[in-house]
Amino acid sequence: MPTILSATPQHIRQVVDHLRAGEIVAIPTETVYGLAADASSQLAVEKIFQAKGRPSDHPLIVHIAAPLGDKDQSTADEWIEILSPWAREVPPPAIMLAMEYWPGPLTIILPKARRVLAAVTGGQETVGLRCPDHPVAQEVLRQFKGGLAAPSANRFGRISPTSAEHVAHEFSETKPEILILDGEECSVGIESTIVDLTHWDTIGPVILRPGAITAEQVARTTQLTLGKNPTEKIRFSGGLSAHYAPKTSLYLVDENTPVDSLKYVSGKIAWAAWVSASEFQFEDTKVQVFEKQFPKDPTEAAKVLYQLLRELDAQQFDALVFPILPTDSIWAGVRDRLARASVGSGIDK
Ligand code: TXA
Ligand code: MG
Repeated sequence: MPTILSATPQHIRQVVDHLRAGEIVAIPTETVYGLAADASSQLAVEKIFQAKGRPSDHPLIVHIAAPLGDKDQSTADEWIEILSPWAREVPPPAIMLAMEYWPGPLTIILPKARRVLAAVTGGQETVGLRCPDHPVAQEVLRQFKGGLAAPSANRFGRISPTSAEHVAHEFSETKPEILILDGEECSVGIESTIVDLTHWDTIGPVILRPGAITAEQVARTTQLTLGKNPTEKIRFSGGLSAHYAPKTSLYLVDENTPVDSLKYVSGKIAWAAWVSASEFQFEDTKVQVFEKQFPKDPTEAAKVLYQLLRELDAQQFDALVFPILPTDSIWAGVRDRLARASVGSGIDK
């Protein structure tokens, strides 16, 4: 079983030494746990792809340390200095977003600096950068003194981990020697919002993945109108439809869903939808419905989503039923993850 290390100063030093030696380590962030490696080492980055089982042309996010000092007092110059080793250009909206939301659950895509490894960017000319808001991640980054490439610490296509135990479970068979630094449960619970600024001056900032920082917040802070993804070619693993997928079939319903839509579902159903199961017709008279709570507050829902999906997926349910969520941007992150969970669900059952 992988080793879970409490985040003591000694363990943090051990993890930093491990990273310097070109090894991979799982670290906590406020969104989900990441599988980190030295972003400047080709060999270290290759170990991430191998451990995750992820196709090598999928780009990774580079995590960077925040400026020292009070986080509300970071200056434009400090962010330019931090970003310049990674980004060829640091345009005004990137600085505005960094000053407003970093450290925090936001990834900014910029044109890459020449030294950024193709292994990190998936061969693209752009790089994803994020300054995470977790004290343990920040301490690791400060001591490491470099960028850490880190995708979510799950096997490719599976649910992202929001606790050290999830990571241990994820790699128990394929990578039992891995070290996991424990930073408790992630406070946000879904992956960062990704905003592409590479065409900010022509088509505007583009949201590639919704998350806790909303589209409205990005538009307001940058004072720009958001654009649409200009090319289908952007390689974006969270963009594959079958992602974040539980093994149990997952259905989404609300009060507008036809009453016979779950007609052929049989056996045991975990019911987390907001509309009552009694509104639906089932052919199987022995259907057993187990009521589960799913928060009606978007921040709370994000925080528990992956934990709940993992927990339900590990039990012997024949189906999971979740709510169709409101279309307002505050729900966009959770709505997106549940839609993908539903599309990819039921595959290895
Ligand atoms: O919250 C998060 O972002 C977490 C934590 C660990 O920081 N990380 C995360 O990484 O979700 P990952 O690799 O599971 O998802 C990152 C997404 C991928 O879908 C990748 O394709 C996209 O970011 N991405 C990274 N660099 C990119 C780039 N240059 N252009 C377009 N998409 C990029
Ligand atoms: Mg991921």
